[in-house]
Amino acid sequence: MLSAVPRPVIVRAPSKVNLHLGVGDLREDGYHELTSVFQALSLHDDIEVRDADELSVVVQGESARVVPTDHRNLVWQAAELLAERAGRDPAVAIAIAKGIPVAGGMAGGSADAAATLVALDELWELGLERADLDEYAARLGSDVPFSLRGGTAIGTGRGEKLLPVLSRNTFHWVLALAKGGLRTPDVFRELDRLRAEGDPPRLGDPDELMHALAVGDPHQLAPLLGNDLQPAALSLKPELRRTLRAGTAAGALAGIVSGSGPTCAFLCADADAAVAVSAELAGAGVCRTVRTAHGPVPGARVIDDKTEH
Ligand code: C5P
Repeated sequence: MLSAVPRPVIVRAPSKVNLHLGVGDLREDGYHELTSVFQALSLHDDIEVRDADELSVVVQGESARVVPTDHRNLVWQAAELLAERAGRDPAVAIAIAKGIPVAGGMAGGSADAAATLVALDELWELGLERADLDEYAARLGSDVPFSLRGGTAIGTGRGEKLLPVLSRNTFHWVLALAKGGLRTPDVFRELDRLRAEGDPPRLGDPDELMHALAVGDPHQLAPLLGNDLQPAALSLKPELRRTLRAGTAAGALAGIVSGSGPTCAFLCADADAAVAVSAELAGAGVCRTVRTAHGPVPGARVIDDKTEH
């Protein structure tokens, strides 16, 4: 007889870049009011869940060593949250294959949490409504609802209140992954400090950027990319200035710090340009490693196997 190895569920979740990240004032609950235009990118994590005797987490791939495998990991918290809702033990083995840089400003932890919600909904046949998943996602973290949804969207509140944004065409990106990460709360705190000291410029509204997305023209989009967290990320990691300069010198249309950094994202004219920029940037010695990616792509979704594209 064949041994009864439980069949896994595999879910792929995208990374993200903020095309526009407008940061408002610090709220009483410790969060900042945001206006964020997100785009989901093809650089992804895959999460595999299967029935087991107890909850466990293993991590493979990109900087796996520094990812916690206990209750500090959002996938652990996602499993406990859904188990409570389902009235069962969170007895699952979760394997995370990381492609998204850890603490890189690309929502890697949020992607894993969103993927776990989708995977356990499927494994435990919960049949959750979209609205329920969105609510659990928002409880786990500000970026988790976007990791569920994917595509291109505008987020307000903590970033968790989402509306889809019309975006034509595929955009091509080069990502410069830094040595070491930045903790999101540290970057927000640094921005508060910079704002208390002086008055760094703040982004306006993203109307023109949304128009450029609807037109689907990277040349029009490039000068409109903006991130209010960038001065704070650069203050904590001044070497990122060189990375940003090297990307545009290599032929990118524009470069920005992705979210809270330290990953730098470079928008390119097309797929060929992205390959050329990535080759040049890789040789410039201004980052740990370089990846190409495209977007928008879908949010967390069940796939048949990890070789799927
Ligand atoms: O929601 P999440 O747990 O991912 O947020 C991590 C941290 O990032 C928060 O504790 C807070 O310091 C900062 N943050 C913020 N304003 C937001 C989102 C996150 O200050 N809108």
